[in-house]
Amino acid sequence: MKTLRLTKAVDAAALLKQDEVVALPTETVYGLAGNATNPETVKKIFTAKERPSFDPLIVHISEKTLHHSSPVKALVIENILNSDVLSWKNLGKIESVMKHFWPGPLTIILPKGSKIPAEVTSNQPTVGIRCPKHPLFQEVLAHISFPLAAPSANRFGRISPTNADHVITELDGRISGVLDGGNCEVGVESTIVQITEDSVTLLRPGKISKSELEVAFGTTVATAPSLMQKISESAVAPGMLDEHYAPRKPLYLIPVSFQDSKSIPIVSSFPESSLESSAWISMSGFHHSFQNLEKQELRILSHENSYEEMARNLFSTMRELDENPKITHIFADVPENTKEGLGASIFDRLKRASRNKPIQTN
Ligand code: TXA
Ligand code: MG
Repeated sequence: MKTLRLTKAVDAAALLKQDEVVALPTETVYGLAGNATNPETVKKIFTAKERPSFDPLIVHISEKTLHHSSPVKALVIENILNSDVLSWKNLGKIESVMKHFWPGPLTIILPKGSKIPAEVTSNQPTVGIRCPKHPLFQEVLAHISFPLAAPSANRFGRISPTNADHVITELDGRISGVLDGGNCEVGVESTIVQITEDSVTLLRPGKISKSELEVAFGTTVATAPSLMQKISESAVAPGMLDEHYAPRKPLYLIPVSFQDSKSIPIVSSFPESSLESSAWISMSGFHHSFQNLEKQELRILSHENSYEEMARNLFSTMRELDENPKITHIFADVPENTKEGLGASIFDRLKRASRNKPIQTN
């Protein structure tokens, strides 16, 4: 199958109407979209990505839903959500959160309706819903009459794509098309929250922070490992998910505690030859002063220490270094604030990329 590079939303919509799968730009990362109500199309998404069937997809909806006085009711009428939600006492809060953050980088997990096949949600009784902000994605949704299931448009376990070239590198020949919308504005995937009648739980950090959500919901927000983290930590799929979000090359995280020192202790334990082929991803260039790093590739994500800029550049930098044949391994420092919003998101993605192996001091 030849993968077409598209520039018009209407052309992407035409392919989607034929139940093809097409990569679309979102404000976070590119998604691999297909008709969320057709199990056969959904299977094509899993096949193209080589994604295991137990990892559910997010369903993307049109901003038209937000014009409705009760967006949840609109989603229940379409059978995207289960009508049980209508009797929840926190319904008003859920809707004010939707209206506040959508369209935008927030995925909300709620009980699913009958129109969403089990293939989308991997047999979970819940579905992740997101109303993306990218104008091209919304334009595509305006041309079609069904919601779009869309995971990030990378092979399973690989770095999420933040431009159309990345998508081609990952999926050329496996998908019908990619709609080119340039570089993604946010650069890391959406914040995911799971909502029940009496709880709100953060499953994946993203641009929208836990404290912003707490203000909007008027309740405390708990944190829990994501579904994929839970699965990878359980015996369900031993070893299979170790490389989630990972570059092919080993990536070592430099803990914050090293960031004030003049040299990194671990460097001495790497053979000199391998150091020469290492690369450094620095959030804002803190280790400029290191004596022993002169020979390495250095990529500074934001000279202004802007978390927006770091997030926007993170995946493309990881990808570029991963593809560079001269580089054998990658070091990365971490943002100063790893607790909230984009700082937490960048730290989360770096930890996964490093397979949770920080540098050891000896
Ligand atoms: O920013 C984003 O969210 C991007 C763009 C394309 O929208 N999408 C994205 O999708 O990151 P994906 O599939 O790469 O990550 C979605 C995560 C998965 O790890 C999945 O486990 C989780 O969301 N998820 C989806 N539905 C779920 C559910 N019903 N319960 C728990 N976790 C769910
Ligand atoms: Mg993904």
